[in-house]
Amino acid sequence: MLLALSTWPEIEAQLARSKTVVIPIGSNEQHGPTGLLGTDWLCPEIIAHTASDQGDILIAPTFNIGMAQHHLGFPGTIALRPSTMISAIVDWSRSLSNAGFEKLYFLNGHGGNCATIEAAFSEVYSEVSYAGLQRGFACKLRNWWELPGVTKLCVRLFPEGHGTHATPSEIAVTQFAYPHAIKNANYAPRIAPTGPIREAADFRARYPDGRMGSDPGLATPEKGGEIVGLAVKGLFQEVAEFDREIAPEGYRPA
Ligand code: NI
Repeated sequence: MLLALSTWPEIEAQLARSKTVVIPIGSNEQHGPTGLLGTDWLCPEIIAHTASDQGDILIAPTFNIGMAQHHLGFPGTIALRPSTMISAIVDWSRSLSNAGFEKLYFLNGHGGNCATIEAAFSEVYSEVSYAGLQRGFACKLRNWWELPGVTKLCVRLFPEGHGTHATPSEIAVTQFAYPHAIKNANYAPRIAPTGPIREAADFRARYPDGRMGSDPGLATPEKGGEIVGLAVKGLFQEVAEFDREIAPEGYRPA
């Protein structure tokens, strides 16, 4: 069930059955010479929307701009500074929790978002704590490649040249969903260099075509389909567990 294609009475009825919502979150940033700029928000969205087609799961709109300052040396990148992103996540979370949602599951597609998302969770929890609200409200962050079995599958599909940015696994996922948007290039070197991530000018100097440690030429739509299939299974499993999770008895705020 996609929140964007639902009405408020449908969401009200859904809340009577489950107080859990999945929020795909990512980044719009360069992904090497052949990777789509939307890769990091498209991947969690593709997995979440496929799950929505297959079963009872509520998917919020995709939070599609992230902490990507280091990619700003490449055109097409749009970035939020960490403080802006924290404020935006807090407001999204507050909107959903005010409506009655108690479990917010963020399915992330950009490693660079993790520290900022966790900081946003601390802000959200602080508001709950200072207001002395009931236990039970929870936020969860999961990178899509950390869903059960997915990293293992990616390593098996791409034993060398996986890398950490513009990886063949994330490129394959977008190829599976958007085959008409597949691009090709001659990569030189075939496997990109690796190193630290700092500011934008330093990033472009170290990684001239935008890739880090990867050979995206290994990606195929078929491999992407295999990854999406396994990720969707893992998403159903984790969201169901999160939905069933009950806060421990004990201390209750006055
Ligand atoms: Ni990426």
